[in-house]
This record gives sequence, C-alpha cells and structure tokens, in this order.
Amino acid sequence: MSRPFLIAQISDPHLKAGGKFSYGVVDTLGALQRMVAHLNASVPQPDVVVISGDLVDFGRADEYAVLAPVLGQLTMPFYLVPGNHDDREQLRMAFTGQACLPVDTTAPTLDWVEDALPVRLIGLDSTIPGAHGGGLTHRQLAWLDQRLAERPHSPTLLILHHPPFITGIGHMDREPFANAAAFERLVGRHPHVERLLCGHLHRPIQKRFGGTVINVCPGTSHQVVLDLRESAPAHFRLEPAGYLLHRWHPEEGLVTHGGVVGDYRGPFPFYDARGLID
Ligand SMILES: [Fe+2]
Repeated sequence: MSRPFLIAQISDPHLKAGGKFSYGVVDTLGALQRMVAHLNASVPQPDVVVISGDLVDFGRADEYAVLAPVLGQLTMPFYLVPGNHDDREQLRMAFTGQACLPVDTTAPTLDWVEDALPVRLIGLDSTIPGAHGGGLTHRQLAWLDQRLAERPHSPTLLILHHPPFITGIGHMDREPFANAAAFERLVGRHPHVERLLCGHLHRPIQKRFGGTVINVCPGTSHQVVLDLRESAPAHFRLEPAGYLLHRWHPEEGLVTHGGVVGDYRGPFPFYDARGLID
C-alpha cells in the first residue's frame, strides 16, 4: 500500500503588526504560532499546508513582515491564496518568487498550479479589490478550464478563499460570489476535482458543488457566530481554533478530518485489561 499524502488546511489568520489584537480582542499572532507548533508536532506530520486566505488583517506590508517568519517555522512546504483582507500587490511583493506563491508574475491575479505532489493543487485568487465578497473572472475561469483539461487523470484540489455559495449566515451572504454558476458548471465538467478548499466563513461548513464537495475551514483564531438569521450581525466568538486535515490515498480517496487546537484533558483509554471500562 502506498503511503497516504496529508494536506493540512488552515485559514484566516488575520495577522496584525505591532502586537495589536484584531478588533481589540483577538491575539491572532499567538493563535497562528500555536497552530504552527501543533502542525509541526503532529504525528504523522502533514506533508504540506495550504492557507486559504485572509493571511493578514489590513493587507499591509508590515503585517506580511510579521506573517512570513511565523509561516517560516513550518517544517513542511506551505501554499498561500489571498482573501478579502489581503492586498494583492502587497502579498505579491512579500512572497512572489517563493515556492509558497508560485504565480505567473505577468498575470493580473494570484492564481497558481503545483504539479509536483501526489495531489495536484490549484490556487485561485477570488478577491475583488475593495470588496468583502469574491468571485472569479471569465479570464480566470478560462485559465482554470485549461489547467484542469491538461491533466484529466490527476486528482486535484482547488484552493480559494471565498466559498461560492449562500451560507444562510446573513451578514456573510450580502455579496454573492461572482460567476458562481459558471464556476460550478466548469467544475462539473472535470470529475478529477476532488474538493474545493475555502475559508472566509471562519466555521467548518460543507456543500455539494459541481459534482464534488466544498470544505470550508475554521479560522486559526476567531470564529464567525453560527447565526442562521438573515439579520445575523457581523459578530465573532472565541470558539476553539480549528483546521482541516485532508488524507489522500490513491485507492481510498480523499478523507477530510476536522481538528481543534487548544488545551483539552486527555487522551483517556476506552479499555483496560478487563475490557471496556465500566
Ligand atoms: Fe477572514
């Protein structure tokens, strides 16, 4: 049996500079440092880490300068896509030329392909400058169609910040994903797309899409309140920091596990020498 390939997904670290807490409350830097330490200490270790956007909070150069050394502590390769809190040009300047952002420097958006792994990764830049919501342009969809067509037998993950669906959490649905229907039809034509891996919602959420599944990853620090009212206010809560661990095996497929990071009691055994503990 060939060895499984493990892809850890983390999302929305929202780092700030100068020791500031996000929204005056959240120690996002400490949270990301705890997540990096957790992934490095995992047994087995993830083979790669993907980070699905909102890398920093205000898209500033000084924030990316805080982010880079923290991610540099990861003992495995990592890959980035931007979110609506990022700034495309600042991110490009901070990471272009590095393996974590293998973009075509002549392209207007930060899209990329990683072909050298057991699972093909395609990063998509779903940001729209100045907007909270996201989407993909017709140019990006045409590019993606070509990329998917060139390796129809390679299991592929699409990584993008914005989930292309309505969640029911009122304040997160105000700006629907641009060209979502065309994107879904495109994905439906390429059954080798194993998953779409998204962020933005700071919660674990799943949805069927184009014949495959979307996994939305929790945040590394704060979580959006689970409030399915149309009038839901834009509130967050300090629920446990979470991540996803995607296990790829060529015969067994892709299985996604949710994990949390924090101090919890255990592990405790179910069994002792007499059997199940009563
Ligand atoms: Fe976010």
